[in-house]
This record gives sequence, structure tokens and C-alpha cells, in this order.
Amino acid sequence: MSDRYCVFGNPIGHSKSPAIHARFAAQTGQNLLYEARLAPLDGFATAVREFAAAGGKGANVTVPFKEEAFRLCDRLSDRARRAGAVNTLQFGEDGVLGDNTDGAGLLRDIEHNLGVKLEGKRVALLGAGGAARGALAPLLAARPQSLAIANITVAKAEELAAGVADLGAVAAGGFAELAGGRFDVVINATSASLSGDTLPLPEGLFAPGALAYDMMYGPGETLFMEQARQLGAGRCADGLGMLVEQAAEAFVLWRGVRPQTATVLAELRALLAAA
Ligand code: ATR
Repeated sequence: MSDRYCVFGNPIGHSKSPAIHARFAAQTGQNLLYEARLAPLDGFATAVREFAAAGGKGANVTVPFKEEAFRLCDRLSDRARRAGAVNTLQFGEDGVLGDNTDGAGLLRDIEHNLGVKLEGKRVALLGAGGAARGALAPLLAARPQSLAIANITVAKAEELAAGVADLGAVAAGGFAELAGGRFDVVINATSASLSGDTLPLPEGLFAPGALAYDMMYGPGETLFMEQARQLGAGRCADGLGMLVEQAAEAFVLWRGVRPQTATVLAELRALLAAA
């Protein structure tokens, strides 16, 4: 019998997680099945319980259930507690363990795949929702020279910065306050592109050669990447690598073996371009 895993979300039809985990399993010789499961908006906890009771070993959690997943866990990893959200569940005899691999996936994509070390760099994080919150502690752990968080609703940026004050200094403000900041790395964690909106990116945001990183991804360049290029960013990347790397981190937790991600990322990129 194969060990069973799944991803819960709503909607879930376009999830790439089954394709990613099937490739990881084949590559590492792990005997597992991984499927996408649509959970009703008012029935996430029940869906999780049923899957665990039927022998499921673990699950990923995506929009809109990450905060609810956080609340239903019996135990939490430190990084999940910091993020206030859970994207990876592990079912065991001592209950449900909740982890959050999104921030680690982001860091691994930027530092390992793109080769941009954050230590000593000036970093800006755009947005103050769940995605930004999950990224803050891992970003600070990478020891940037400075970290600034900007959001339209400034109070939310200030709240996130205060929540990690014990880990390091984070400047919080609106987008205009980033003007002339000449950041080495600018990460978009807003959901603006989902509604087709451009961001109010100020002049002088990017240092020469800066990396503009969008947590979102699509078949071509994202709106943020286009905007960043026009404002002088030296390199642009989307979040497909983060998606593959957060999956790899979950796979490590569940199976104790780290899959190779480069070929999987290249295959997904090709599938996305052909879609
Ligand atoms: P997620 O879980 O993807 O982070 P979220 O928690 O709803 O989603 O947060 C969305 C983030 O995108 C917020 O920071 C939001 O800004 P506000 O807090 O000011 O609402 C930001 N956002 C959404 N649409 C935006 C837009 N058109 N321009 C700028 N920021 C936007």
C-alpha cells in the first residue's frame, strides 16, 4: 500500500502540487500517492479529519485554509507559529503536527536557485498579508543589512514588524517611504496582480543590478516583474521556484529525504508555458 498525501484548497483544480510530489516520489523511489482535494469552504476541518482517519499520512494546505489549519493543529513548528499559518500537516499517533515551509521555500529559491545571498543586503518586502507574514522570520534569519516592509494599509505593516521585533529591526511604512531606498532585493508578497493591479512602486526603489522577486507566477512575466524592469531592476524572478521549494521542504518533513528540484522546476516551467 502506498502512503497517501494530498493538498487541500478551494479552488484546487489548478494545483501543481500533485505533479510536483509525483516527480519527487519517482525521483527518490518513495512509494506514495499525492492527490488534490477540494475542501468545502465551511468543511475544511472535517475534510482533514476524514483524510487522516482513512490513513492519510500528511497534507499540504493552500488558499484559503492556511489560517484555519494553524488553529486545528495539536502541535506547531516554531516557523508555523511565527507565520500564524500552516501549509504542511503531518498526521501521527500524537495528533496533527503543523509546519509552514513557505518561508524556507522562498529563501531557498532566492539564495540557492537564484544565487542571491541576502546577508548584508538591503531587502524590501511588499505587502503585509499572510504571504508577507510567513516570509518575515526566515528573511531576518538570513541576516540582511536592513529589512523594510511596505503596505498600502500601513498599520498592518507596523503590526507585522512588531511581531518579529525580538528577531531584528524591520522598518514599516507605506510604498512612498521606499522612494530612493535602492534596495538590493525587492520581494512582492501582495496579491495585487490577482486583481490585475499595478503597485505604486516609487522611483529609486532598486539598486543597480537589484533582484525583483514576485511570489506570484504565471505563464509569462508577472505585472510586478514588468513594472520592476521598467524601474531599473537588474533581474526579475517569479514564484514558481518558491512553489517547488516549499513542496521539497514538506517532502523532507514527511519522507526524510530531500528531492532534487532543478529538473522538476524546469518541467513545470515548460508545462506552464505550454498551457
Ligand atoms: P496573502 O495571503 O496572499 O498575503 P492577504 O492576506 O489577503 O493575502 O494579503 C494581501 C496583501 O496584498 C495585503 O498586504 C494587501 O494590502 P492591504 O493590507 O493594504 O489591503 C495587498 N494588496 C492587495 N491588493 C493590492 C493592491 N491593489 N495594491 C497594493 N497592495 C495590495
